[in-house]
Amino acid sequence: MYSDRPDAATTPVTVPALFDAKRDGRRLTMLTCYDAGFARAIDAAGVDMVLVGDSLGMVVQGHSSTLPVTAEDIAYHTACVARGLRRALLVADLPFQADATPAEALRASTLFLRAGATMVKLEGAGFKLDVIRYLVEREVPVCAHLGLTPQSVLRLGGYRVQGRGEAAGERLLADARAVAEAGASLLVLECVPMELARRVTETVGIPTIGIGAGPHCDGQVLVLHDMLGLRHGRRPRFVRDFLADGGSVQGAFEAFVREVREGAFPAAEHGYA
Ligand code: KIV
Repeated sequence: MYSDRPDAATTPVTVPALFDAKRDGRRLTMLTCYDAGFARAIDAAGVDMVLVGDSLGMVVQGHSSTLPVTAEDIAYHTACVARGLRRALLVADLPFQADATPAEALRASTLFLRAGATMVKLEGAGFKLDVIRYLVEREVPVCAHLGLTPQSVLRLGGYRVQGRGEAAGERLLADARAVAEAGASLLVLECVPMELARRVTETVGIPTIGIGAGPHCDGQVLVLHDMLGLRHGRRPRFVRDFLADGGSVQGAFEAFVREVREGAFPAAEHGYA
């Protein structure tokens, strides 16, 4: 996390430092990454957290969803990314069904932590609350993920904004409280109305990281390929091509860090009503 301390540029980001950032109103930055080369550049730009997301199924493996990704895939890419990082906190995604039971989630999480991750991410609430508790009791820091959860694509029938309307908004707020109470240290909010993201951020004690959730979260995450303008088809409104503005890959990462910290990105135009 950036701060005024002279060693802040190289001090590894820790889980307690994420809570300090929320308390002090310092905005957090996160990018997805899948290999050591990009990890080095992202780390050098001062990005606080790197996520080995199951988005790798789509942007690296070429699938049409995240569902084919395995825990072994995530462990392999986590080890690659870990070799490129010195400072950023590394989060590894529990892929589809790797968190179907607490025991399976612990098995996969142990692979990820041994590969160099500090935290694991999982989608949803419901029975996942037991999974979060089980992992946290066994010293595995957890990032929860609510709103549009891409592993639910078959049930949802597509990738759409979630939490619209009073009832759905209250459900999402209750889920956010529940994942925090279960012990999650971080919460990704994907594609939710920006006022709902603001309420969640003001209500839960853990840092919120938005993607398509507007400007009021404690931090922001983007998929690496998206923010470098590498995308098939229509670009969602929450994505910005930082390579076009930054002039180089390194410049893109630095522009992302600067704009998130300054509150310039995301703007209201990048969020949903
Ligand atoms: O897998 C992923 O890249 C993610 C981000 C979109 C948050 O979950």
